[in-house]
Amino acid sequence: METENLLADQAGYARASTILHDGGLVAFPTETVYGLGGDARNDMSVARIFEAKGRPRFNPLIVHVDSVETAQLYVEWSDTADRLASIFWPGPLTLVLPLKPNTGLSALVTADLPTLAVRVPEHPVANALLAEFGGPVAAPSANPSGKISPTKASHVERGLSGRIDAILDGGDCGVGLESTIVGLDGQPTLLRPGGLPTEAIEAALGTTLDVFKSGDPLSAPGQMTSHYAPGAPVRLNATDLRDNEMLLGFGQVEATMNLSPSGDLVEAASNLFHHLHMMDSLGAEVIAISPIPDHGLGRAINDRLLRAAAPRP
Ligand code: TXA
Ligand code: MG
Repeated sequence: METENLLADQAGYARASTILHDGGLVAFPTETVYGLGGDARNDMSVARIFEAKGRPRFNPLIVHVDSVETAQLYVEWSDTADRLASIFWPGPLTLVLPLKPNTGLSALVTADLPTLAVRVPEHPVANALLAEFGGPVAAPSANPSGKISPTKASHVERGLSGRIDAILDGGDCGVGLESTIVGLDGQPTLLRPGGLPTEAIEAALGTTLDVFKSGDPLSAPGQMTSHYAPGAPVRLNATDLRDNEMLLGFGQVEATMNLSPSGDLVEAASNLFHHLHMMDSLGAEVIAISPIPDHGLGRAINDRLLRAAAPRP
């Protein structure tokens, strides 16, 4: 299959929307990472998403919608959902809520779970595409399963070219980490740290979030241990440099690349995946990474780095 490169202009949105209506797959930018979009109502499209990524079928997808009103068509809304959505949508927050009956969504999207993950993204290109298409878009990150997530159109091209219909190029993703996922089908629970700091959510709720524990098989099926893996092995919390290693630094250290020389976690988040892609292209044998403080976006960065360093299957 030839993958079309589309510009983020009216012609590009129209073409992308036609491809989605025809059951095809379009990668598009969001404020977090690039998503691999398909029509969430079409079983064939959703099946093709799993196929293109090599993603296990038990791992459900996030549905992207244009507004709270559209989200309410698909999930049982609640006061807590309303509070979080009114503050943080559009933005890097995904809510997991009970799925309504007879929504018309493909059962593959939820992997047959009784809940659905939804979010309203905040990126002009994602919003223009959702408006032009006029329906729900299922979109995991646009990378082969288990690999580093894409924050540039060129990352998507490297990972999925020839396997998807089109890439809508909207430049770099600003946040650079996937959305934070909060489960609201019980006590508010952090299912995945991400681009919205946990502290902000807890302040909005006035309570602390429960944290998903890996004993819970159904809570976040995608939180498999090895993930976000560059080609080279990764060593974390490196305060020295060993033979064969290149350093991905943070703060004032001498390094091959530096996530944020000034120690800014927002900057480090936006650089993380691109720098991991770069360290791979530079041919690092082992990627050593400086310690990252474990608060704010640092918590999501450390979550991704732990998975990048985990034993590979
Ligand atoms: O920022 C993001 O969230 C990006 C952009 C494209 O929106 N998307 C993304 O999708 O990161 P993906 O598929 O790479 O990660 C989705 C995560 C997976 O860990 C999946 O298991 C979890 O969401 N998930 C989806 N539906 C769920 C559900 N009903 N219950 C619990 N977890 C769910
Ligand atoms: Mg992903």
